[in-house]
Amino acid sequence: MTDFLRLAEDIAREAGDMLLAKRPTMSVEPGAVQTKSSPTDVVTALDRASEELIRERVRAARPGDRVLGEEGGEEGGEEGGGDSGVRWVVDPIDGTVNFLYGLPDWAVSIAVEVDGRVVAGVVNVVPRGEVYTAALGEGAWLAGERLRCNPAVPLGQALVATGFGYESARRAVQAEVLTGVLPHVRDIRRGGSCAVDLCSVAGGRVDAYYERGVNYWDYAAAGLIAAEAGARIGGLGGRPCNTDLTLCAAPGLFEELHDLLVPLDPERDS
Ligand code: IPD
Ligand code: CA
Ligand code: CA
Repeated sequence: MTDFLRLAEDIAREAGDMLLAKRPTMSVEPGAVQTKSSPTDVVTALDRASEELIRERVRAARPGDRVLGEEGGEEGGEEGGGDSGVRWVVDPIDGTVNFLYGLPDWAVSIAVEVDGRVVAGVVNVVPRGEVYTAALGEGAWLAGERLRCNPAVPLGQALVATGFGYESARRAVQAEVLTGVLPHVRDIRRGGSCAVDLCSVAGGRVDAYYERGVNYWDYAAAGLIAAEAGARIGGLGGRPCNTDLTLCAAPGLFEELHDLLVPLDPERDS
Protein backbone atom coordinates (compact mmCIF):
# COMPACT_ATOMS: atom_id res chain seq x y z
CA MET A 1 0.00 0.00 0.00
CA THR A 2 2.85 2.35 0.86
CA ASP A 3 4.36 1.67 -2.57
CA PHE A 4 1.08 2.53 -4.28
CA LEU A 5 0.77 5.71 -2.26
CA ARG A 6 4.34 6.76 -2.94
CA LEU A 7 3.95 6.20 -6.68
CA ALA A 8 0.58 7.97 -6.78
CA GLU A 9 2.03 10.91 -4.88
CA ASP A 10 5.08 11.17 -7.17
CA ILE A 11 2.85 11.12 -10.24
CA ALA A 12 0.36 13.65 -8.81
CA ARG A 13 3.23 15.98 -7.95
CA GLU A 14 4.75 15.66 -11.41
CA ALA A 15 1.41 16.35 -13.12
CA GLY A 16 0.85 19.33 -10.80
CA ASP A 17 4.28 20.79 -11.61
CA MET A 18 3.61 20.42 -15.33
CA LEU A 19 0.21 22.14 -14.98
CA LEU A 20 1.64 25.04 -12.99
CA ALA A 21 4.43 25.55 -15.50
CA LYS A 22 2.14 25.48 -18.55
CA ARG A 23 -0.99 27.21 -17.23
CA PRO A 24 0.06 30.81 -18.01
CA THR A 25 0.44 30.13 -21.75
CA MET A 26 -2.54 27.84 -22.15
CA SER A 27 -5.31 30.39 -22.69
CA VAL A 28 -3.61 31.92 -25.72
CA GLU A 29 -3.19 28.65 -27.60
CA PRO A 30 -5.78 27.95 -30.33
CA GLY A 31 -8.20 25.17 -29.39
CA ALA A 32 -6.92 25.11 -25.82
CA VAL A 33 -10.42 25.20 -24.31
CA GLN A 34 -13.33 23.07 -25.51
CA THR A 35 -16.72 22.18 -24.07
CA LYS A 36 -18.17 18.81 -23.08
CA SER A 37 -21.65 18.13 -21.67
CA SER A 38 -22.76 21.79 -21.76
CA PRO A 39 -21.34 25.21 -22.75
CA THR A 40 -20.08 25.68 -19.18
CA ASP A 41 -18.47 22.22 -18.92
CA VAL A 42 -14.99 22.95 -20.18
CA VAL A 43 -11.97 20.79 -20.87
CA THR A 44 -8.61 22.32 -21.56
CA ALA A 45 -5.65 20.94 -23.47
CA LEU A 46 -3.95 20.70 -20.10
CA ASP A 47 -6.64 18.42 -18.62
CA ARG A 48 -5.75 16.04 -21.44
CA ALA A 49 -2.00 16.55 -21.08
CA SER A 50 -2.19 15.91 -17.34
CA GLU A 51 -4.15 12.70 -17.83
CA GLU A 52 -1.76 11.52 -20.55
CA LEU A 53 1.24 12.14 -18.29
CA ILE A 54 -0.42 10.18 -15.47
CA ARG A 55 -1.33 7.29 -17.79
CA GLU A 56 2.22 7.13 -19.14
CA ARG A 57 3.76 7.05 -15.68
CA VAL A 58 1.38 4.32 -14.48
CA ARG A 59 1.99 2.28 -17.65
CA ALA A 60 5.76 2.55 -17.21
CA ALA A 61 5.74 1.60 -13.52
CA ARG A 62 2.86 -0.91 -13.49
CA PRO A 63 2.05 -2.19 -16.98
CA GLY A 64 -0.59 -4.67 -15.78
CA ASP A 65 -2.81 -2.07 -14.13
CA ARG A 66 -5.92 -0.46 -15.56
CA VAL A 67 -6.51 3.28 -15.55
CA LEU A 68 -9.91 5.01 -15.43
CA GLY A 69 -9.53 8.69 -16.24
CA GLU A 70 -12.15 11.40 -16.72
CA GLU A 71 -10.91 12.40 -20.16
CA GLY A 72 -9.90 9.04 -21.68
CA GLY A 73 -12.13 6.48 -20.03
CA GLU A 74 -10.85 3.09 -18.95
CA GLU A 75 -7.93 1.33 -20.56
CA GLY A 76 -4.82 -0.68 -19.81
CA GLY A 77 -3.96 -3.96 -18.18
CA GLU A 78 -3.12 -5.75 -21.41
CA GLU A 79 0.56 -4.75 -21.53
CA GLY A 80 1.27 -6.59 -18.31
CA GLY A 81 -0.09 -9.83 -19.76
CA GLY A 82 -3.26 -9.81 -17.67
CA ASP A 83 -5.28 -7.92 -15.16
CA SER A 84 -3.31 -7.20 -12.00
CA GLY A 85 -6.53 -6.38 -10.11
CA VAL A 86 -5.28 -2.82 -9.68
CA ARG A 87 -7.05 0.20 -11.16
CA TRP A 88 -6.00 3.83 -11.00
CA VAL A 89 -8.84 6.36 -10.89
CA VAL A 90 -7.80 9.76 -12.15
CA ASP A 91 -9.21 13.25 -12.36
CA PRO A 92 -6.37 15.09 -14.12
CA ILE A 93 -7.72 18.49 -13.03
CA ASP A 94 -10.62 18.64 -10.60
CA GLY A 95 -11.85 22.22 -10.69
CA THR A 96 -11.11 23.07 -14.31
CA VAL A 97 -13.18 26.26 -14.15
CA ASN A 98 -11.04 27.48 -11.23
CA PHE A 99 -7.95 26.47 -13.19
CA LEU A 100 -9.10 28.58 -16.14
CA TYR A 101 -9.86 31.62 -14.01
CA GLY A 102 -6.73 31.40 -11.86
CA LEU A 103 -8.60 30.55 -8.66
CA PRO A 104 -6.67 28.38 -6.20
CA ASP A 105 -9.03 25.43 -5.65
CA TRP A 106 -8.09 22.91 -8.30
CA ALA A 107 -6.31 19.61 -7.87
CA VAL A 108 -4.84 16.53 -9.45
CA SER A 109 -6.65 13.54 -7.97
CA ILE A 110 -5.36 9.96 -8.11
CA ALA A 111 -6.83 6.94 -6.33
CA VAL A 112 -5.56 3.36 -6.41
CA GLU A 113 -8.04 0.52 -6.18
CA VAL A 114 -7.14 -3.10 -5.46
CA ASP A 115 -9.90 -5.58 -6.32
CA GLY A 116 -12.42 -2.74 -6.48
CA ARG A 117 -11.53 -1.12 -3.14
CA VAL A 118 -9.69 2.21 -2.87
CA VAL A 119 -6.51 1.59 -0.85
CA ALA A 120 -4.60 4.82 -1.53
CA GLY A 121 -5.53 8.36 -2.50
CA VAL A 122 -3.67 11.55 -3.33
CA VAL A 123 -5.13 14.99 -3.95
CA ASN A 124 -2.55 17.55 -4.99
CA VAL A 125 -4.09 21.01 -4.54
CA VAL A 126 -1.43 22.52 -6.72
CA PRO A 127 -1.86 26.31 -6.29
CA ARG A 128 -1.99 25.92 -2.52
CA GLY A 129 1.05 23.63 -2.40
CA GLU A 130 -1.00 21.10 -0.43
CA VAL A 131 -0.73 17.38 -1.10
CA TYR A 132 -3.33 15.36 0.81
CA THR A 133 -2.70 11.62 1.09
CA ALA A 134 -4.37 8.60 2.66
CA ALA A 135 -3.88 4.86 2.73
CA LEU A 136 -6.63 2.51 3.86
CA GLY A 137 -6.40 2.00 7.63
CA GLU A 138 -3.35 4.24 7.91
CA GLY A 139 -4.86 7.68 8.27
CA ALA A 140 -5.02 10.83 6.18
CA TRP A 141 -2.10 13.19 6.06
CA LEU A 142 -1.11 16.69 4.97
CA ALA A 143 2.49 17.91 5.28
CA GLY A 144 3.38 15.30 7.90
CA GLU A 145 0.32 16.10 10.05
CA ARG A 146 -2.40 13.56 10.59
CA LEU A 147 -5.80 14.95 9.62
CA ARG A 148 -8.93 14.77 11.76
CA CYS A 149 -12.22 16.16 10.53
CA ASN A 150 -14.07 18.54 12.86
CA PRO A 151 -16.10 16.76 15.51
CA ALA A 152 -19.82 16.92 14.74
CA VAL A 153 -21.31 20.32 15.40
CA PRO A 154 -25.09 20.87 15.45
CA LEU A 155 -26.38 21.34 11.91
CA GLY A 156 -27.19 25.00 12.62
CA GLN A 157 -23.49 25.65 13.25
CA ALA A 158 -22.17 23.66 10.30
CA LEU A 159 -20.25 25.24 7.44
CA VAL A 160 -21.34 23.20 4.45
CA ALA A 161 -19.60 22.95 1.08
CA THR A 162 -21.53 22.02 -2.02
CA GLY A 163 -21.32 22.25 -5.79
CA PHE A 164 -23.50 22.40 -8.86
CA GLY A 165 -23.64 20.40 -12.07
CA TYR A 166 -23.14 21.71 -15.57
CA GLU A 167 -26.70 21.29 -16.91
CA SER A 168 -29.15 24.13 -16.49
CA ALA A 169 -32.15 21.98 -15.48
CA ARG A 170 -30.15 20.19 -12.80
CA ARG A 171 -28.88 23.51 -11.50
CA ALA A 172 -32.40 24.81 -11.11
CA VAL A 173 -33.18 21.87 -8.79
CA GLN A 174 -29.87 22.30 -6.97
CA ALA A 175 -30.76 25.94 -6.34
CA GLU A 176 -34.15 24.86 -4.96
CA VAL A 177 -32.51 22.30 -2.65
CA LEU A 178 -30.04 24.95 -1.53
CA THR A 179 -32.87 27.24 -0.43
CA GLY A 180 -34.03 24.39 1.81
CA VAL A 181 -30.55 23.90 3.28
CA LEU A 182 -29.29 27.46 3.71
CA PRO A 183 -31.68 28.57 6.51
CA HIS A 184 -30.62 25.55 8.61
CA VAL A 185 -26.81 25.78 8.50
CA ARG A 186 -24.10 28.27 9.46
CA ASP A 187 -23.33 29.01 5.82
CA ILE A 188 -22.57 27.49 2.43
CA ARG A 189 -19.32 27.40 0.46
CA ARG A 190 -19.00 26.65 -3.27
CA GLY A 191 -15.30 26.03 -3.75
CA GLY A 192 -15.38 24.58 -7.28
CA SER A 193 -13.63 21.25 -6.75
CA CYS A 194 -15.28 18.19 -5.23
CA ALA A 195 -11.88 16.68 -4.37
CA VAL A 196 -10.77 19.86 -2.58
CA ASP A 197 -14.13 20.13 -0.78
CA LEU A 198 -13.73 16.59 0.60
CA CYS A 199 -10.15 17.35 1.66
CA SER A 200 -11.54 20.45 3.37
CA VAL A 201 -13.87 18.21 5.38
CA ALA A 202 -10.85 16.02 6.22
CA GLY A 203 -8.81 19.03 7.35
CA GLY A 204 -11.61 20.81 9.22
CA ARG A 205 -11.92 23.78 6.88
CA VAL A 206 -15.59 22.98 6.41
CA ASP A 207 -17.83 20.74 8.51
CA ALA A 208 -19.71 18.97 5.74
CA TYR A 209 -20.12 18.53 2.01
CA TYR A 210 -22.91 17.35 -0.25
CA GLU A 211 -23.36 17.39 -4.00
CA ARG A 212 -25.51 15.79 -6.66
CA GLY A 213 -23.88 14.53 -9.85
CA VAL A 214 -20.22 14.11 -8.96
CA ASN A 215 -18.39 11.25 -10.65
CA TYR A 216 -16.26 8.49 -9.18
CA TRP A 217 -13.02 10.15 -10.27
CA ASP A 218 -14.06 13.33 -8.39
CA TYR A 219 -14.33 11.58 -5.02
CA ALA A 220 -12.38 8.29 -5.25
CA ALA A 221 -9.15 9.66 -3.73
CA ALA A 222 -10.61 12.43 -1.56
CA GLY A 223 -13.34 10.12 -0.25
CA LEU A 224 -10.66 7.89 1.27
CA ILE A 225 -8.87 10.95 2.66
CA ALA A 226 -12.08 12.17 4.33
CA ALA A 227 -12.93 8.69 5.68
CA GLU A 228 -9.41 8.21 7.05
CA ALA A 229 -9.78 11.60 8.75
CA GLY A 230 -12.80 10.24 10.61
CA ALA A 231 -15.62 11.54 8.41
CA ARG A 232 -18.53 9.45 7.21
CA ILE A 233 -19.03 9.48 3.44
CA GLY A 234 -22.01 8.00 1.65
CA GLY A 235 -25.18 8.53 -0.32
CA LEU A 236 -28.78 8.77 0.78
CA GLY A 237 -30.60 5.95 2.58
CA GLY A 238 -27.47 4.05 3.61
CA ARG A 239 -26.14 3.68 0.07
CA PRO A 240 -22.45 4.14 -0.63
CA CYS A 241 -21.65 7.50 -2.21
CA ASN A 242 -22.60 7.64 -5.83
CA THR A 243 -23.38 9.99 -8.68
CA ASP A 244 -26.92 10.63 -7.42
CA LEU A 245 -25.68 12.18 -4.20
CA THR A 246 -22.46 12.30 -2.21
CA LEU A 247 -22.56 13.43 1.39
CA CYS A 248 -19.69 13.73 3.85
CA ALA A 249 -19.38 14.93 7.46
CA ALA A 250 -18.43 13.72 10.92
CA PRO A 251 -20.77 10.99 12.20
CA GLY A 252 -23.74 12.71 13.82
CA LEU A 253 -23.65 15.73 11.54
CA PHE A 254 -23.79 13.37 8.55
CA GLU A 255 -27.13 12.01 9.76
CA GLU A 256 -28.52 15.49 10.52
CA LEU A 257 -27.63 16.78 7.06
CA HIS A 258 -28.91 13.57 5.51
CA ASP A 259 -32.28 14.01 7.23
CA LEU A 260 -32.48 17.64 6.13
CA LEU A 261 -31.76 16.68 2.52
CA VAL A 262 -34.11 13.68 2.12
CA PRO A 263 -37.43 15.62 2.13
CA LEU A 264 -35.90 18.11 -0.33
CA ASP A 265 -35.58 15.22 -2.82
CA PRO A 266 -32.10 16.26 -4.00
CA GLU A 267 -31.65 13.37 -6.46
CA ARG A 268 -34.22 14.65 -8.96
CA ASP A 269 -33.40 16.69 -12.07
CA SER A 270 -36.72 18.49 -12.55
C1 IPD B 1 -16.18 19.43 -11.16
C2 IPD B 1 -15.79 19.93 -9.81
C3 IPD B 1 -16.91 20.77 -9.22
C4 IPD B 1 -18.20 19.99 -9.14
C5 IPD B 1 -18.56 19.41 -10.48
C6 IPD B 1 -17.39 18.58 -11.03
P1 IPD B 1 -14.26 19.15 -13.07
O1 IPD B 1 -15.13 18.66 -11.74
O2 IPD B 1 -15.48 18.88 -8.92
O3 IPD B 1 -16.63 21.20 -7.90
O4 IPD B 1 -19.22 20.86 -8.70
O5 IPD B 1 -19.68 18.58 -10.27
O6 IPD B 1 -17.75 18.06 -12.27
O7 IPD B 1 -15.25 19.22 -14.21
O8 IPD B 1 -13.67 20.45 -12.72
O9 IPD B 1 -13.30 18.03 -13.18
CA1 CA C 1 -13.86 16.56 -11.54
CA1 CA D 1 -11.68 17.08 -14.33
